[in-house]
Amino acid sequence: MAKSEFSDLIPRAKEILRRNDAGVFTKPGPRQYPHQWNWDSAVIALGLAQYDLPRALTEIRSLISGQWRDGMIPHVVYHLTPSDYFPDPTFWQIKNSPHAPPIATSGITQPPLLASMIRTIHARTPISDFIREVYPALLRWHRWLHTARDADQSGFACLIHPWESGTDDSPRWLEALAAITPIDVPPFRRGDTTHVAAAERPHHTDYERFVHLIDVFRRNRYDPPTLLSQSPFLVQDILFNSILYRADDDLRALALEIDQPTAEIDSWLDKMRANFDIRFWDEQQHLYFDYDARTQTSIPVNTAMTFAPLYAGIIDPHRAQLLIDEHWSNPAEYGRSGRVHYALTTVSKSESMWEARRYWRGPVWIVYNWLIVEGLKRYGYHDLADGLRHDSLTLIARSGFYEYYDPRDGSGCGSPDFSWPAALAIELLSHV
Ligand code: SER
Repeated sequence: MAKSEFSDLIPRAKEILRRNDAGVFTKPGPRQYPHQWNWDSAVIALGLAQYDLPRALTEIRSLISGQWRDGMIPHVVYHLTPSDYFPDPTFWQIKNSPHAPPIATSGITQPPLLASMIRTIHARTPISDFIREVYPALLRWHRWLHTARDADQSGFACLIHPWESGTDDSPRWLEALAAITPIDVPPFRRGDTTHVAAAERPHHTDYERFVHLIDVFRRNRYDPPTLLSQSPFLVQDILFNSILYRADDDLRALALEIDQPTAEIDSWLDKMRANFDIRFWDEQQHLYFDYDARTQTSIPVNTAMTFAPLYAGIIDPHRAQLLIDEHWSNPAEYGRSGRVHYALTTVSKSESMWEARRYWRGPVWIVYNWLIVEGLKRYGYHDLADGLRHDSLTLIARSGFYEYYDPRDGSGCGSPDFSWPAALAIELLSHV
């Protein structure tokens, strides 16, 4: 790909990150998301590291400052920036938990990209002292995911809230959410539809359940064993667990770098590898499906998360080929078709709940494209990876730095001036 086609993107991307810089952290979106989000910050640090390494390390330190005493690194850290974002820090009532940190945070977690980003940054510019500094926090977070969130000794982390998946209103979660009766939902006022059109955000019925779940957690003082046994929502997400597997592998590399033992990490990796296909592969449809750990059933919804195991590098090449031949290239699912011109639609077009502009119901997300570019390369699909990278940069160049994009005409949706595509434009142009 000719870099010149996108030659003005890097300065524009840096300008977005500069404007979203809140001092010690970067806002994912200037109005919609004015606090520090976990997996956003990990990717933002990767982008920042390419031109301002000290600021990238500050981003990571700020995120880790929200770590709970039991090891969880939460999905949001509130550095006391006033905002109209809901939930505000007081809504979580985290002080109900003996594990809560001194700083204000949410009470749930998010996909653990951080160790992988640190390993990549280190491979480009050695940061061994920094690794020594943050390794204990990373290890404690991964250990928490493999213990406090392992409901069935499968080695997989369970999620207790759709927000933990990062793909909040994905149709994968609809059936589990429908089984929840949101009783006594505390009063709340949505902030998310103030800055973004309601048609691009989750439906109210889902949002009520999001809030109800938080209420259940805070009433149970965020006690991990209680939440594992009581949370009405309990799923094993293929995306989250693919990210975790890759991050465990990267954590292992960091451990070796600083002469730390790896046996514990090896045991997590072995368990996940042994169980992954048994738990998530559907032999009839040749798709990876998420798993409802509460009902102990597979969640047969065809979303682009079926390609996440490529990013993990956890599946055999034959199954990767089946995914590509039968689904990636199929115009009725993820392939180009008359109505869809940009990859990767986050839900298969064959699903009845597919929507081009609603949050995680079908739009293209640059962060997901980038994870899959990495996965495709890992399995040797270099042409497909190049095509997906080109689509991603084209969307950003034509429409600007948006939270997500309509896969039909490439127009931007959700929050404008979004930090993820800014960090990833830098990454896709410099390293991928
Ligand atoms: N993504 C959620 C929101 O939309 C929270 O993590 O507010």
